Amino acid sequence: MKKSVVVLGTQWGDEGKGKIVDLLTERADAVVRYQGGHNAGHTLIINEQKTVLHLIPSGILRDGVKCYIGNGVVIEPTALIKEIKNLEASGVDVQSRLYISKAAPVIMPYHIKLDQLRELKKGKQAIGTTGRGIGPAYEDKVARRGIRIGDLLDPELLKDKLTQVLAYHNFVIEHFHQAEPLAFDEVYQTALQQADFLRGMCSDVTGQLHQHLANEDRLLMEGAQGTLLDIDHGTYPFVTSSNTTSGSAATGSGLGATQIDYVLGITKAYTTRVGGGPFPTELFDDDGAELAKRGVEFGATTGRPRRCGWLDLVALKRAVQVNGVTGLCVTKLDVLDTFETIKMCTSYGDQAFPESAQEWAQVKPIYEEFAGWQSSTKGLTEMADLPASAKALIAHIEQFTGAPVHMISTGPDRCENILLVDPMQ
Ligand code: GDP
Ligand code: IMO
Ligand code: MG
Repeated sequence: MKKSVVVLGTQWGDEGKGKIVDLLTERADAVVRYQGGHNAGHTLIINEQKTVLHLIPSGILRDGVKCYIGNGVVIEPTALIKEIKNLEASGVDVQSRLYISKAAPVIMPYHIKLDQLRELKKGKQAIGTTGRGIGPAYEDKVARRGIRIGDLLDPELLKDKLTQVLAYHNFVIEHFHQAEPLAFDEVYQTALQQADFLRGMCSDVTGQLHQHLANEDRLLMEGAQGTLLDIDHGTYPFVTSSNTTSGSAATGSGLGATQIDYVLGITKAYTTRVGGGPFPTELFDDDGAELAKRGVEFGATTGRPRRCGWLDLVALKRAVQVNGVTGLCVTKLDVLDTFETIKMCTSYGDQAFPESAQEWAQVKPIYEEFAGWQSSTKGLTEMADLPASAKALIAHIEQFTGAPVHMISTGPDRCENILLVDPMQ
């Protein structure tokens, strides 16, 4: 039996992680977010009812499952409180099941302001961030001047830290960006009120996770973003500011590297990307428009249209390697139902694997063509019912990447899946 299973994205995010985490929580005792912040948007559809989660782990809709926000997550209190209240308004019991690490960095109002000012200044070269303050908050963490959730709980300590850090950021806001500085009192008072709301949920998450392991409970580690948005392994600088790859599940929660039993890599049957940056297999034709339309490809956090293209097996293979993927889950197979021909990129020609945005931009993808099936796979739950050409596509993904496909998702609803090997067993 697997005690801790990591679920993460192998592309540029939005692979369907939330849906799969929610599904697997049926056999989990706890779900843990370990990196990213409310830049994430994880969609759960249960009996046609849609819930989008940003910071709260995708286990919250299963009664009795504990939800943890680990030390590696950057937390924006306003967004977290709003998410808690919205869920509670729809009858979900959150506060008794949600635990927040005191070591998690806080996204403060100046981080959000700086994120947005920088993007404006970059103009055409903008990263296309979610504007949520993610990058500046991680910078403060690494610069060792960040405010952590634990600091919010101590008014005097907070006053001291905030005085120093706000002076620093206000200088940049005023003199580099020529924008309005933030008022200390407003930031401080808001933070104190938020701390009062969150206090009861703050705890030693690492200690609790180890207690779960000692009890032989099962943990689901929920990744955000995707491998190509990883700060080290992604399409830098068009990336997010955390490690989105599997090592983060350990560092962002306090588990040891040897305590991860399984890594489930989620990949769409095609590719999407939101925001700027290189995307070798991006389509600008009718096929791209068809993927966008059938896949309803709009960002779950910002509502921006997602760029669409064919599956890139070269990049997926790298993702399998850097994450140590145990098994793959191919999502949105049903989106390909109408295509006469389906392409997958199987080579970057004689170009070595790109290591910079410039090298990524030079990639000329070489495709292999596969026959489409032109029949509905929507909602299928048995491998035997898949058309032969869909099975051939899955077999090719396995053969190329060297990773077995353990799950296939055939629709957005919790029940629309083919489970070949249960990652939790
Ligand atoms: P996440 O960020 O990885 O959790 O993914 P998002 O929720 O941002 O985006 C995935 C989108 O695809 C959501 O709208 C899901 O409801 C939807 N989705 C997930 N799996 C499937 C699937 O197998 N088929 C279809 N048609 N939609 C899916
Ligand atoms: P989930 O968890 C897709 C992208 C942004 C931008 C880049 C940097 O739902 O898969 P940031 O605000 O993080 O500094 O933006 O990363 N991005 C995502 N794209 N899905 C996400 O999360 C993303 N989170 C960030 O669009 O290109
Ligand atoms: Mg998403």
